[in-house]
Amino acid sequence: MEKKIKALFINGSPRKNKNTAQLLQKAMEGAESAGAEVEMVNLYDRNLNYKGCLSCFACKIKGGKKGVCSFKDDLQPILEKAVQADVLVCGSPNYCSYPSAMLRAFMERLIFPAVNYSDYSKPVILKKLHSATIYTMNCPNKDTYRMANYHILMDTSAQQLGMFGPTEILCSFDTYQFNNYEKYDAASFNEPHKAEVRNNQFPKDLEKAFELGERLVRQCEEEQ
Ligand SMILES: Cc1cc2nc3c(=O)[nH]c(=O)nc-3n(C[C@H](O)[C@H](O)[C@H](O)COP(=O)(O)O)c2cc1C
Repeated sequence: MEKKIKALFINGSPRKNKNTAQLLQKAMEGAESAGAEVEMVNLYDRNLNYKGCLSCFACKIKGGKKGVCSFKDDLQPILEKAVQADVLVCGSPNYCSYPSAMLRAFMERLIFPAVNYSDYSKPVILKKLHSATIYTMNCPNKDTYRMANYHILMDTSAQQLGMFGPTEILCSFDTYQFNNYEKYDAASFNEPHKAEVRNNQFPKDLEKAFELGERLVRQCEEEQ
């Protein structure tokens, strides 16, 4: 029997059904439609207590377990799943110019054990992982993304997944942030424009996310 492709989706937004979550959900549906076994993890789940790397260096001890963080907490089983997965898709809102703190903490715990302190050129993990990062933000377009240096501040984090295999980034701009704009002091946002983007552009981004999930699974299948 053919082994099923395993695809893991990591939601780095505290909101479980807003912009980032919806895009991840679509990517997950795309992966599922291509035959993958899928799972979504919400990093801000109240039952998930963890911190970023604590510098315990267990992953660097001579003769110790390499490649995956072994610090025992609620994130550890998820990190095991991430390194065993064939497809990994992370998602995050832009928070003050960076990926969210919970996604960064996840990334520290995923990336550092994979870094080979004895030889940077040799990967600790040999299993190939096809990955992507989905970012959502108020930033209205690619040009502003660049002007605000997000192509450095956000993309550098996402590109770290490239150490495991091919990786890509999908950005969804000008997202609809509040349920009711009238309730908030947010005069610099033009609600009718935001609604227009939500109704016309966001559905296209959802389609792109679906195709992304499907594509990553197909790429894995072609390599099997
Ligand atoms: C704490 C915080 C900081 C934010 N900082 C930025 C920012 O620096 N640049 C930006 O474009 N959007 C920023 N935003 C807007 C969010 O990135 C945007 O609304 C995003 O789509 C929210 O994702 P969600 O709907 O999945 O929660 C910020 C939002 C919050 C709550």
